[in-house]
Amino acid sequence: MQFGIVSLFPEMFTALTHGGVTARAIECGLVQLHFWNPRDFSHDKHRRVDDRPYGGGPGMVMQVQPVRAAIQAARAFYGADARVIYLSPQGRRLNQAGITLLARDSRLILLAGRYEGIDERVIQHDVDEEWSIGDYVLSGGELAAMVLIDAVTRQLPGALGDAQSAQEDSFCQGLLDYPHYSRPACIDNQAVPDVLLNGHHAEIARWRLKQALGRTWLRRADLLAKHVLTPTQQTLLAE
Ligand code: ADE
Repeated sequence: MQFGIVSLFPEMFTALTHGGVTARAIECGLVQLHFWNPRDFSHDKHRRVDDRPYGGGPGMVMQVQPVRAAIQAARAFYGADARVIYLSPQGRRLNQAGITLLARDSRLILLAGRYEGIDERVIQHDVDEEWSIGDYVLSGGELAAMVLIDAVTRQLPGALGDAQSAQEDSFCQGLLDYPHYSRPACIDNQAVPDVLLNGHHAEIARWRLKQALGRTWLRRADLLAKHVLTPTQQTLLAE
């Protein structure tokens, strides 16, 4: 999977190389990152990339010329069919289904904005899709782009260890996670639930599924309403 990143702050993306799933995926070449900095494409002698908004108001707007040139360079590198995704709070809300959809592509160009945003003409003419990571405003699209890269990377075959990916595929898809415990079995008078200590795999699976269902019901009833029990889940609950 190749991610082209159009950003004024490419160095932020080094965070993805600091350990864990994304770092491993980048190290082994499963994920490749390439960067295009609009500042490098600015025709301005001071390499300016922003200007005041028409109509007045606070802040600055990223200008068409350097952003468009950076996107075009990325498109030239990947080929015309690479989709350009703009991260912004106005976009379609990202969820796990959206991540699965995005993970089907082999190349994505991610456009991260700064300041008050990007000149609308870029969004209209040069962007294919707009996605938001949630209903809050970040100072720039870089963190949102990294969230997308991290979540997409986890979906790529080979990104997770075998045990981990089996876990991801298992009975808790679409539900909130069940609680996890490790040694010691008791600390400060807090004991691990007995069922996890008896080594009975079906019982443990049933307990975890019930925990996941209960938590989803209590915390995210909206998810539970949409959830359809898989045959595995039905069997577990029927036993
Ligand atoms: N840029 C700023 N805020 C954002 C958000 N919530 N999602 C995606 N990109 C953003």
